Amino acid sequence: PYPSYHKLRETDPIHAVLFPDGQRGWMVTRYEDAESVLKDSRFIKDMSKIYGGSMDQMSVFTQNMLFSDPPDHKRLRGLAQKAFTPKMIASMRDRIQEITDDLLTKLEGQNQVDIIDEFAFPLPIIVICEILGVPSTDRDKFRMWSNSLIEGTSGDSNTTVYEHMNEFIQYLGQWFATVREQPGDDLISSLIEAEEQGERLSESELYGVVTLLIIAGHETTVNLIGNTVLTLLEHPEQRQLLSQQPDLINQAIEESLRFNGPVEFSTTRWAGEDFEFQEKKFKKGELVIVALNSANHDPEKFSNSEVFDIQREKSQHLAFGKGIHMCLGAPLARLEGEIAITSLFNRFPKIELAVDSADLEWRPGMIVRGVKTLSIKLD
Ligand code: HEM
Repeated sequence: PYPSYHKLRETDPIHAVLFPDGQRGWMVTRYEDAESVLKDSRFIKDMSKIYGGSMDQMSVFTQNMLFSDPPDHKRLRGLAQKAFTPKMIASMRDRIQEITDDLLTKLEGQNQVDIIDEFAFPLPIIVICEILGVPSTDRDKFRMWSNSLIEGTSGDSNTTVYEHMNEFIQYLGQWFATVREQPGDDLISSLIEAEEQGERLSESELYGVVTLLIIAGHETTVNLIGNTVLTLLEHPEQRQLLSQQPDLINQAIEESLRFNGPVEFSTTRWAGEDFEFQEKKFKKGELVIVALNSANHDPEKFSNSEVFDIQREKSQHLAFGKGIHMCLGAPLARLEGEIAITSLFNRFPKIELAVDSADLEWRPGMIVRGVKTLSIKLD
């Protein structure tokens, strides 16, 4: 996979990109450079430092930790962190197993299913809805709104992305009003408490953090599950190894994250000032794209980097990023991946791809990497 990344890594690892509006940007493709950029505070996240701080439609979605720099970043991440510590996540194991088992039971008796629609999507969205305290029965709406934002298309010719965003903001506003009247012990209740106390969280940040968690909490994990099922089915010897040695599951998830990472280009940064990095001159305001899936295939870092090998040890891939923005939900994603894959292959040991790999349709947009649908035969 990824032949053009291969060429860029070899010949032009910090590649100047010219955008349609005439602006110059950069794409970083080698592991070592990718890691350095992610850890270097001269590459910033807060767009308002570049474009000014106007409060338009988009900024409701960007008032969160992912688009902030210190000191705001620490404050915003701190407010959500307690719900995602490894200990909190470990305590959710039984509930995640239960949700998984229910979803798999619904598949019993069917010959062929779209595993994305019926399994990989509902599992993480139900889990993140429960953590946040929003009704998971509204999950199809979340999927529509979040696809709109991620893919930049509304998927419906009568509604624009802009209208979808408005619907989403209105939905959240109504939900926050309900929670203000009757708080529970979920994450939204504690965020609202912080907002009501003032100082720690503004109203637009409340929208921003909740939106980020809903989107980040499932868009990527859907693709982790989908990509892992696909990659294992495409590598029968690795699948067989996993069924003989189920303890390899955690390594298999890590290798899937490295080999077929769910995040393509969302690790963007801005040059916060004029400076030089690896002999290239960066100008303030230039966009920098860190190509994680390229870094994760860099042969300088990973031996036999194009081989999918679930026995690879401590691979130190960058699928969850690095530095202060490293994925808050990594422990949750890993646990969901482990339970989902183990349970699916245990329940349906004979599953097979029902489509030719070459005919698979990948999701549009450059933020995530995952297939639109994945038809599999269950027995
Ligand atoms: C940040 C990947 C699942 C929440 C990130 C970043 C990456 C990433 C690469 C860093 C972005 C950057 O540096 O610009 C993934 C992958 C996932 C996954 C591959 C699944 C396999 C989740 C889940 C959550 C989550 C389940 C749940 C809550 C977040 C948040 C951030 C983040 C809040 C921002 C952290 C910060 O800015 O401090 N994720 N993610 N992610 N992720 Fe994930």
